[in-house]
Amino acid sequence: MKRLLKWTVIVLVCGFVLLQFSRTARTNPTVDESRAIEARLNVTPEVKAIFARSCDDCHSNRTRWPWYSYVAPVSWTVTDHVRHGRRHMNFSDWARLNDREAAYLLGDICKTTKQGIMPLDSYTLMHCDAILTPQDVGTLCLWSASEQQRLAAAQGTQSLK
Ligand code: HEC
Repeated sequence: MKRLLKWTVIVLVCGFVLLQFSRTARTNPTVDESRAIEARLNVTPEVKAIFARSCDDCHSNRTRWPWYSYVAPVSWTVTDHVRHGRRHMNFSDWARLNDREAAYLLGDICKTTKQGIMPLDSYTLMHCDAILTPQDVGTLCLWSASEQQRLAAAQGTQSLK
């Protein structure tokens, strides 16, 4: 029985060590400021601070990779969240969106934070400071609504030309 336990532990430890050789992509592509959200929208300092605290790690190329993102198998989940997060919305590459897509995402920023879907629970578990207060959500929703209006107004003047 004792031998079995010993071998089980040895196999588990070796397996864990081998896992560490798996490849995970912790990339931070270079940021071209002219393509970032700040260059396209009026991002107020309050909104910028909320993004930096609660969203940038998954929705920008400025990810602060935590120590556990270097430890498999947790690293797989973390890199997967960042990859998916960036694909859905990347503040460092806002320029890739047309006005309609940008307006949609602005609405979604309000919706997902109001519903408590964003930031992800698995993230706030490790980053308590990223939890949004009702005021934060209010700030985001007011801001996104006003930016949506501004985009719509700009489109309106363009089509008049
Ligand atoms: C731990 C990583 C993580 C954090 C932090 C995070 N998100 Fe996300 N976010 C994701 C992932 C992953 C998806 C894609 C969800 C899916 O595939 O269903 C997503 C999707 C979204 C979407 C949907 C985009 C679309 O295509 O419609 C919005 C909007 C969003 N996040 C906003 C935010 C905001 C705002 C914050 C900060 C308050 C935030 N997220 C923080 C990982 C994150």
